[in-house]
Amino acid sequence: MRNRDHILNEAKQWVIEAGELIKTEMQKPYKIDTKRDRKDLVTEIDQKTEQFFVDHISKKYPDHKILGEEGMGEEVHSLDGTVWIIDPIDGTMNFVHQQRFFAISVGIYHDGVGEIGLIYDVMNNTMYEGVKGEGAYKNAKRLDPIDPNKTLTDALVGLNNFWAIPNRRLNEKKIHELVRKVKGTRSYGSAALEFAYIAEGIIDAYITMRLQPWDIAAGKIIVDEVGGVTTRVDGSSLDLLTGNTVICSNKAIHESLMTFIQEKE
Ligand code: IPD
Ligand code: CA
Ligand code: CA
Ligand code: CA
Repeated sequence: MRNRDHILNEAKQWVIEAGELIKTEMQKPYKIDTKRDRKDLVTEIDQKTEQFFVDHISKKYPDHKILGEEGMGEEVHSLDGTVWIIDPIDGTMNFVHQQRFFAISVGIYHDGVGEIGLIYDVMNNTMYEGVKGEGAYKNAKRLDPIDPNKTLTDALVGLNNFWAIPNRRLNEKKIHELVRKVKGTRSYGSAALEFAYIAEGIIDAYITMRLQPWDIAAGKIIVDEVGGVTTRVDGSSLDLLTGNTVICSNKAIHESLMTFIQEKE
């Protein structure tokens, strides 16, 4: 990708400014709507924040495409060229109910290759950053590779709420078995932060049955840079134009989780 360093610095600057916008807007009353159902929230701040990115990116880079959760960008049907994949607020439920534990997630892909991943924990002023081939960083401090020797029984595993309810792929016996097998489970309510925490080494895996491109795009790039693996639960590659199941962790735990899911009870 041409001008990668320049785009990186600019993207980081916009993410920080977008964080300031969120912090200012959340002090005032704001409109909260629902999307699919009463648990699926969106606020006018999600939309304004995405619009902020669209305005800046389209002005500076009119030939780049923008795929954002709130649809302020355009319809993106291929990853050809440079595509910004943006979740303006990942963890809207946390944002509304807790005023913390949410993040801005920006992944920049060029011809389908993840080049730059930024995850910004707004209320903690923490920037996670990954640049293809150049490592992953937390607030400009390089992150160590994740421990390749850690196994599933010793893992702290991020699970999201779908797992509390038996689903098409796993019945409750399987879920109970997994919870018993691992060292502990966590559910943070922001997929982007779960990826960032894997890169940081404070959780060891994340498994979920439904994520959208904007939940994953930045996280995958950051985790790749510390030696992690992110695929669908059957081991196939992610498709960043559609919904995906996801396993993210070191190689060994990734293998174990895939085997575990495929095994019959
Ligand atoms: C959601 C969060 C949540 C995950 C959901 C996502 P949003 O994103 O990442 O942790 O479990 O699947 O949709 O809607 O808050 O941006
Ligand atoms: Ca949402
Ligand atoms: Ca999201
Ligand atoms: Ca969102």
